[in-house]
Amino acid sequence: MSDDKERTVELHYEGGVLKLPVFTGTEGESTIELKTLLGSTGMTTLDPGFGNTASCSSEITYIDGDAGILRYRGYPIEDLALHSTFLETAYLVIYGELPEPGQLKEFSDKLRDNADIPAEMGAFLDAMPRNGHPMALMASAVNTLAAYYDDSVDPENEDQVELATIRLMAKLPTIAARIYRNSIGQTPIDPDGSLDYVDNFIRMTFGDKAPTGELGDLFNKAVGMLLVLHADHELNCSTATVRVVGSAKADIFASVASGINALSGPSHGGANQAVLEMLEEIRDSGISIEDFLAKVKSREVRLMGFGHRVYKNFDPRSKEIKVLASQILDQDENPDELFRLALKLEAAALEDSYFTERKLYPNVDFYTGVIYRTMGFPTNMFTVLFALGRLPGWIAHYREQLRDPAFRIARPRQHYVGSAERRYPGQG
Ligand code: CMC
Repeated sequence: MSDDKERTVELHYEGGVLKLPVFTGTEGESTIELKTLLGSTGMTTLDPGFGNTASCSSEITYIDGDAGILRYRGYPIEDLALHSTFLETAYLVIYGELPEPGQLKEFSDKLRDNADIPAEMGAFLDAMPRNGHPMALMASAVNTLAAYYDDSVDPENEDQVELATIRLMAKLPTIAARIYRNSIGQTPIDPDGSLDYVDNFIRMTFGDKAPTGELGDLFNKAVGMLLVLHADHELNCSTATVRVVGSAKADIFASVASGINALSGPSHGGANQAVLEMLEEIRDSGISIEDFLAKVKSREVRLMGFGHRVYKNFDPRSKEIKVLASQILDQDENPDELFRLALKLEAAALEDSYFTERKLYPNVDFYTGVIYRTMGFPTNMFTVLFALGRLPGWIAHYREQLRDPAFRIARPRQHYVGSAERRYPGQG
């Protein structure tokens, strides 16, 4: 937040005129500060879904939704997607700068050293319903980390927050892979310290069935890039949730578990699963693309993987993912018919005025599902992969909030429209 308090806007109301300061962000965007509004005028603002409300100042991610721009800590997403690894990007998002080689090694070593989960926690995971949704299981497991590691739950203690950061980053892939192995009735695979972060996750997930050679390299690159593309997205629903829960000084494990729960919704991270289910339904029902889009336009169904609260242009992440999808599917002996269906659906929607007038474009979730499916992930694991990618963002926002001098517990107001006072029956 730049401190140019000389810029103001005036609010004219029945009681007079209130001058409100306007702050200018790094890219010239203006934000009106409303801190004095309630005290001075007795009025609040009503902004369903917080579409116009900045709840904090942040240095982590910049998005220009009209121009289709996304940057982490100033670096364009396109550069990071093509040239950075997930661990390097995670470090950048969490700590603010790209790591020097020594810092990256230290970070990576710490993650290797902490990748195991306690045996009791493994038993707890193994006892959870095998056919339960992996997002529900993952959120429960992350919440439980606070119980296993109560030496890293104090938000007031920087060392503890740092230790919890490492533990979360290190253990989430182990937890995710174990949930998957349990769901298919296979023995869990322990982390392998000789592998890099992404390879280790692929190995813990697929074991001997993990692709090797050129295909293995491509899978590693694809998973790494998808994690980079998901690493942060400023105040999206799950990150806002992490901040709200963290604002009550809840520990980072509880806050991130809440973020995982928010992410599970089909309007948010759950959309990647919903897209694939939608494509399967179109294929299996034999409905034409034209008729399916007619159902969307009559509001019977939503076109999943399309539209975004912030992007009113192509989601820059979806462009990278579409290229990646072509590369992955080229390797497949039986190119995925769902990918071809997705391409046709996208092209038809982008020519239809319903979508163009509302500025509805493919978002990050439109093509991720077909990639994950080709790699062999079951549909209900797609959102888990999103969570693995988003973890650095959740952690970074939690930590940034703790250091913010303007930090207060999140406590929105409401516009009350219920009954006026009335008497309890029999009380006059
Ligand atoms: N299909 C059909 N119509 C849509 C869609 C869609 N996917 N998205 C928005 N619209 C219409 C909506 O009906 C409304 O039309 P009208 O003005 O005539 O009432 C207009 O576009 C504006 O939509 P909105 O619901 O006010 O937009 P929002 O900002 O509240 O919602 C969204 C954003 C992402 C929840 C929504 O676009 C959506 O439900 N998309 C499908 C689910 C999806 O792909 N979610 C992933 C989002 S990106 C990754 C992530 O955040 O995790």
